Amino acid sequence: MKDIENRADIILLVDCFYSKVQDNQTIGPIFTQIANVNWSHHLPKMYDFWESILFGKAIYKGNPMLTHFSLNQHAPLKEEEFKTWKMIFFNTVDELFAGENAETIKQKAQSIADLMHFKINSPQSKINIV
Ligand code: HEM
Repeated sequence: MKDIENRADIILLVDCFYSKVQDNQTIGPIFTQIANVNWSHHLPKMYDFWESILFGKAIYKGNPMLTHFSLNQHAPLKEEEFKTWKMIFFNTVDELFAGENAETIKQKAQSIADLMHFKINSPQSKINIV
């Protein structure tokens, strides 16, 4: 199996990830019903996000913490939701890729998810969100 090497690999990973997410009973409805995500808008944003994270290209512009903080007002994002998100992400990476970048993207996803979970559910979250 090959490693994640370029944007085409990121696109494959992101597309597979969100296809599984949409079918998932725990977090799928948050995307498809509550946020009613516009996929042709969301997916390219996520390609940029992961390319920025993994390859250090500053192409993603946005504030994921704020996005999820406001999402949390409509769909509480708790342990179960984050556990599910991480499980699907890790499984998708492992199904498609192996190598240093595959390990790095899982570690980054884990740290961002854990930080997001902590900030959203912390009593101080309104002050510390960014
Ligand atoms: C409980 C787990 C999660 C759920 C249910 C969730 C759900 C969502 C939804 C519904 C959106 C789209 C908002 C919209 O377009 O209206 C979104 C955007 C986004 N998510 Fe998540 N998310 C989760 C965890 C994560 C994690 C762990 C990361 C990063 C590692 C992440 C990164 C992003 C980014 C970068 C955006 C785009 C923000 C922007 O610039 O607009 N999400 N998420």
